[in-house]
Amino acid sequence: MPHLAIRGGAPVRPPRQAWPTWPPISTRAVDLISQVVRSGQWAYDGPMEWQFAHQFAAFSRARYCLPVANGTVAIQLALEALDIGAYDEVIVPGLTWQATAAACIDVNAIPILVDIDPRTYCLDVAQAEAAITPRTRAIIVVHLYGAMADMDALRALARRHNLHLIEDCAHQHGSQWQGKGVGALGDVGAFSLQSSKVLTAGEGGLVLTDDWTLFQQLYSLRNCGRPLQPGAPTVQSGNYRMTDLQAALLLAQMEEMEERVNRRDANAQYLNRKLAEVPGITPMLRYPAITRQSYYCFTFRYDERAWDDIPVAAFRQALSAEVGLNVGTTYEPLNDCALYRPHTKRRHRLSDDYWQAIDPARFDLPLCHHAFRREAVVLWHPFLLAERADMDQIADAVAKLYEHRDELRSLTT
Ligand SMILES: Cc1ncc(COP(=O)(O)O)c(C=O)c1O
Repeated sequence: MPHLAIRGGAPVRPPRQAWPTWPPISTRAVDLISQVVRSGQWAYDGPMEWQFAHQFAAFSRARYCLPVANGTVAIQLALEALDIGAYDEVIVPGLTWQATAAACIDVNAIPILVDIDPRTYCLDVAQAEAAITPRTRAIIVVHLYGAMADMDALRALARRHNLHLIEDCAHQHGSQWQGKGVGALGDVGAFSLQSSKVLTAGEGGLVLTDDWTLFQQLYSLRNCGRPLQPGAPTVQSGNYRMTDLQAALLLAQMEEMEERVNRRDANAQYLNRKLAEVPGITPMLRYPAITRQSYYCFTFRYDERAWDDIPVAAFRQALSAEVGLNVGTTYEPLNDCALYRPHTKRRHRLSDDYWQAIDPARFDLPLCHHAFRREAVVLWHPFLLAERADMDQIADAVAKLYEHRDELRSLTT
């Protein structure tokens, strides 16, 4: 009789037991949307949008928040507000969604891809320092995979070299470093509000900053160059706005945001403690300065050597069958990523030098590739809203796979 669900054995979690679903559907959201529909004020700068912006700034312990069209343009506008443009170099981690690097190219800057710290899968500070040249203007740190880079070291590095620090927080609404929210730790923070994210309007984004001058600049850039203060100078820009209909969805979620982020963090910490007991499983490093960790993707590291060389892909499939969740890996490293192809757009050919400089293949990212191919185990966040007993099932499933690894290995031969 097989033990493992993937071979026909009984799964740890009965298939009829449902997991929490996402996005959250509430009568409050429906009420607020109806209010906007009836008000006729559907466009940007509506009352709900500003109410949401104030709430999210307070939630993140930031001074200013500005909703924008999506997370990609949030990064683009952050770069433009900091006056980063043609031929400027921007340090970007090699393991992130393509938008982090693509936004740099969209402002004619050069993304310099840097490898990760294998303990966090976030930007490695020493390698970031080694990549600094006289052309470097900014570092974009991406908080992802349920971990953070060493933000004290990174902020000190940016200060020492007079560089701007941009945070891509698409995965971590509500994470805090020593009590301060992500997005407010550097010059500008960029967030995505796309439908899979932990705060969502279907599509959308926002930027945070503590700097009033930058906020005014960001406001103009998102609004076709119109100044926030009447009479102030105009600038060249496009339309990167959000609507009050989207803000209504966001306002409804803000009522439960603290509770949800805290609940995910408590469940993740509990699950990490249990997973750490299984040989060859390592939770992501959590720096003591992290006072709250937000999760878009709960992630842990699998050591194939401790699992008799069973490939992580087989482990993921078997775990998925035990608990009824999708179990995946990280984003593709950007030096070989199907959706990061800067050379497919002719407008990127500013010059031969620029064309060569933006070639992703010129960067070496061995640790990103190891995480992506050999190590990472990644689960999407809704399951973290379930109960403690549900976390036990996941830990039990991992322990079960270890116990029956002979059976697991037979899948791979
Ligand atoms: C790390 C990261 N940055 C930026 C983005 C871009 O956000 P959007 O899809 O809202 O444009 C995403 C989206 O998934 C992301 O994961």
